[in-house]
Amino acid sequence: MRKLPDDFFQLIVTSPPYWNVRDYGHKDQIGLNDTLEEYLHRLNKVWHEVARTLLPDGKIALDIGNIYYSEPDEKRRTTANLSLLTWQQLNNIKSLRFMGTIYWQKTTSRDGAVLFGSYPYPTNFMISNAVEPIHIFRKVGKREVPKEIKERSKVSVEEFRKFRDAIWNDINGVEDAHCAAYPLELPARLIKMFSYIEDWILDPFLGSGTTMRAARELGRNSVGIELNPDYLARIEEKVGIKRRNSVGIELNPDYLARIEEKVGIKQGDMFTDAKFEVIKL
Ligand SMILES: C[S@@+](CC[C@H](N)C(=O)[O-])C[C@H]1O[C@@H](n2cnc3c(N)ncnc32)[C@H](O)[C@@H]1O
Repeated sequence: MRKLPDDFFQLIVTSPPYWNVRDYGHKDQIGLNDTLEEYLHRLNKVWHEVARTLLPDGKIALDIGNIYYSEPDEKRRTTANLSLLTWQQLNNIKSLRFMGTIYWQKTTSRDGAVLFGSYPYPTNFMISNAVEPIHIFRKVGKREVPKEIKERSKVSVEEFRKFRDAIWNDINGVEDAHCAAYPLELPARLIKMFSYIEDWILDPFLGSGTTMRAARELGRNSVGIELNPDYLARIEEKVGIKRRNSVGIELNPDYLARIEEKVGIKQGDMFTDAKFEVIKL
């Protein structure tokens, strides 16, 4: 992320790896083999970079839920409030202001779900984690946007009403080749809410490329960072970008100059087509 320029992205949409849950198959992955303190420390470094790369008045949409875990000396479950802990991290960054939290209530059926806790007896009900808070922050400052761009980015009155609800309960979870993908509608809504057409969107934990696909469908540019190169095939398939060799694809020459100048990286470092690139770090 250090390769990315200051004050460049209008919006960061992301769902980071959770602590202690999934194996994303890479030795440098955040989360799996970290203590909670190490995990938070590593994420905090990402948030500082994210804030640096945001434009004035740019937005962050951070989707992260809580997880159950067991303390080493206990067989019982405890909940790690990752949502609160990461909210605190963002809130501690001086250039960011909290705008609110959307609660994505996954509508996947819970009827057959395993019942943890003391079932069928009281008193240890483990509260369901089937809701993911999405925290919205803005970077201080103002940005001028041409009227024509604003007009082309309008949302309908129905969308405006629906999107500003604190609870989103009309979006299903998805099955994907990537084990932790979120549904396309999630980043799509956030992109419509918090960016204009032609803006730049960043997802520092790209996974299967969902954010990039939504950005592309909505006429935004995007950059994604993903640690595990095994996911590139899925990203190419989902986003519809083609890789013509192992390091990158041919670029529109006008665009190449712009990206090299603005992003400060060379073609060999990224996977891209005319508008969308996945930077291989
Ligand atoms: C929750 S998933 C993101 C899923 C994504 N929203 C999607 O729809 O496919 C988190 C991703 O972060 C990646 N990751 C883990 N540690 C990372 C790191 N240090 N740098 C970049 N990506 C990392 C994992 O490989 C994983 O693909």
